[in-house]
Amino acid sequence: MPSQRKPMIDALANAMRAARTVTVLTGSGLSADSGVPTFRDAQEGLWARYRAEDLASPEAFERDPDTVWQWYRARRQQIAGVEPNAGHWALAALQDQLPDLRLVTQNVDGLHQRAGHRDVIEFHGNLLSNRCHRERRIVQVDDATDLPPPCPHCDGPVRPNVVWFGEAIPEEAIAAATTAARQSDLFVAVGTSAVVQPAAGLADLARGHGARVGEINPEETALSASVDFGIRARAAEVLPALVEALLGHYTPD
Ligand code: APR
Repeated sequence: MPSQRKPMIDALANAMRAARTVTVLTGSGLSADSGVPTFRDAQEGLWARYRAEDLASPEAFERDPDTVWQWYRARRQQIAGVEPNAGHWALAALQDQLPDLRLVTQNVDGLHQRAGHRDVIEFHGNLLSNRCHRERRIVQVDDATDLPPPCPHCDGPVRPNVVWFGEAIPEEAIAAATTAARQSDLFVAVGTSAVVQPAAGLADLARGHGARVGEINPEETALSASVDFGIRARAAEVLPALVEALLGHYTPD
């Protein structure tokens, strides 16, 4: 840990200690440390010739369900081969140390849950579950199939439980995330470019309700100029150091 970073991590840990409610928003940068390819990075080989909208939109699924299903099966296989990283584990440890930690994620890979995080507010759904495209309800099906299985209730096509281009963020996720942002004394954005709405607006909402704002990201983002605690480094490096600064000790399991 470079020495100039330590005072900022200590300051963020102090703000966390003083806060009653803390909200953390995570994005694909956190999973990057686990080796999860971004949507575009995953579009290699056969998939490179598709436009993203032809793999991830309701119109694409209605036009060509088999191709869309096979793309998501490939994404699931990629994710099955990665593990939560030190950043996911550190956030899961934090939830047992802070009185009220809310976690909002834009990631669909389920790595927070695999690290033991409970009550994750998922903005873009979860790649590891499925729902009926017709009725929207979550269904339990064997998804290791070449073609989309039928819904066990209505026989309609089953799809991955993710939010596609042109689809709305689940209402309960928006409600939980905006409540969290409003109630927070501290809001920390981790590994997100903070450009995609409405996730990007959560930091502003929190600030407008009196929260201080932190950011953990090796690159500058739209948020960087206005944050109170900016830590320009990888999440898997900073988050364990933050837990250690907060507790005085931290040994990841
Ligand atoms: N640690 C922390 N941050 C990182 C790391 C890392 N190891 N590596 C990269 N980053 C940062 C990048 O600097 C960038 O700011 O993560 C951010 C990733 O930005 P995006 O790719 O825009 O991802 P995200 O903010 O999650 O995008 C939101 O847009 O593409 C859609 O649905 C997709 O959920 C995604 C949403």
